[in-house]
Parts: sequence; C-alpha cells; structure tokens
Amino acid sequence: MTPWPYPLWLAHRGAGKLAPENTLAAFRLGAGFGWRAFECDVKLSGDGEAFLLHDDTLDRTTGGQGSPATQHWTDLARLDAGAWHSPAYAAEPLPRLAQIAAFCHANGCALNIEIKPCPGTEAATGAAVAREAARLWAGAELPPLLSSFQPDALAAARDAEPTLPRALLLDELWDGWPAAAEALGVVAVITNWRLMDRALIERLHARGWRALVYTVNDATEAARLIAQGVDGVISDAVDRLGPGAAPITA
Ligand code: G3P
Ligand code: MG
Repeated sequence: MTPWPYPLWLAHRGAGKLAPENTLAAFRLGAGFGWRAFECDVKLSGDGEAFLLHDDTLDRTTGGQGSPATQHWTDLARLDAGAWHSPAYAAEPLPRLAQIAAFCHANGCALNIEIKPCPGTEAATGAAVAREAARLWAGAELPPLLSSFQPDALAAARDAEPTLPRALLLDELWDGWPAAAEALGVVAVITNWRLMDRALIERLHARGWRALVYTVNDATEAARLIAQGVDGVISDAVDRLGPGAAPITA
C-alpha cells in the first residue's frame, strides 16, 4: 500500500454535535480541540453552488424548508443554520465548500468531502463537487478525499477529476461492493464501525485499500478498531477522543 497521508482522526460533520453540524463554527470548534482532519457533507444548490448540508431537505438544520436542489444559493446563503442547535449559534450560515477550503488551507487541515447528492442528482453532484474540489485544492500538498455511499456519484467524480482520491462508503456490505470499489478506483473503503473487524481490515488492505470507520464515539470501540489496524476514525466526540492538542484560534 502507498503511504496514507491523512490523519487517523477525522471530526464528523465539522465537530460532531457540540456545534451546528457542517458549519464553519463546527470546524473552528473542532480545530480548537486540536483536530486537523474533518469530514463534511456536500451537495449542490439549484444553481450549482457546492455547499455543506447533510439532509435532503433544509428543515432540520436551517430556518428554510424543502429541497435545496431547487433553490438558488443567494437564498440559501441567507438561512440561519445555527439557531436549531442553540442560541449561541444563531445566524451561523450555511458554508460554501470554498469557505471550508479556505479554512483548511489556513489551518493546515485535511478534508474528507462526503458527496451527499439530493435524490436524482447523483452524477451531476459527483462531477461538480469533484471539479470544485480540484479547483479549490489546486497546488495543495494534500487533496481532499472524496467519499460517497452512491457509486454513481463516485463514478462521475472519477470521470471528472480522476486524480482526486476516492473512498466508497458502506452502511452494509451489499452484494458486489468489492467489484464496485475496484471499478471506482478507490483508495479506501469507509464502513459503519459495526461492520469493521480485523478480518475485514485485512481483506481491504490485501486489495490495497485503506480501512476507515464512522461514526465512533465510544473510547473502547475506537481503541479496538485502532488496535486492529484501521487507518481512519470519523467521530463526533471531539471533546473526548482524538488528537487532543491545545486549542488554536482559527
Ligand atoms: O462520511 C461518513 C459519515 O458521515 C456517513 O454518515 O449520515 O453522517 O453522513 P452521515
Ligand atoms: Mg457524512
């Protein structure tokens, strides 16, 4: 296997649950706890802006409603993506991928971009996010790792920007996943932590694929998986697990 350049610990959705997920505030909080690698969910607005949001609709984590796939970025940019979490984060906006890239460059952080297409936009989102990532990280030492549960999105990302590293996300070991991972040219497979054990790690490594897990919030499970040889741990527990370095200002 080629050397793995990404940190072992990745903060989930920016900084898990302590700040509003997938916002710059979450990234700042995670960095303050010493985290230097982040996972986030990226999709497209109706007019093609790559931005951070987990759900298929705006309802849970913003003041907006409905699918963002039919709304313009200028309207999405005005939404409050923090008040749902707590009053301290009121008026925190949805970030564009470009703002996250600037944060990562300024603070020496690695990024795992989970391509999270709204239903029906898998290929368009995979291609557009890959192109935007290639533009934003042009000349950077460490490219973002693109991941998705959707093979169609990863295939479009591969075709648009073949040199960006890709990872297949698995919530279950569905029939044919090894052949799909091979066809997608992945460098890693990221599974639900409950699926990962020493045998699967060895199976992945034998194929030349790194083994990463999400979302590990229990110290005992994290220690087991690390001892068994996982290459990356995505976690919400930025205050309890992870690198534990001194706070920084970001
Ligand atoms: O990328 C790993 C993890 O984020 C996948 O689950 O639902 O939190 O995006 P979800
Ligand atoms: Mg995710």
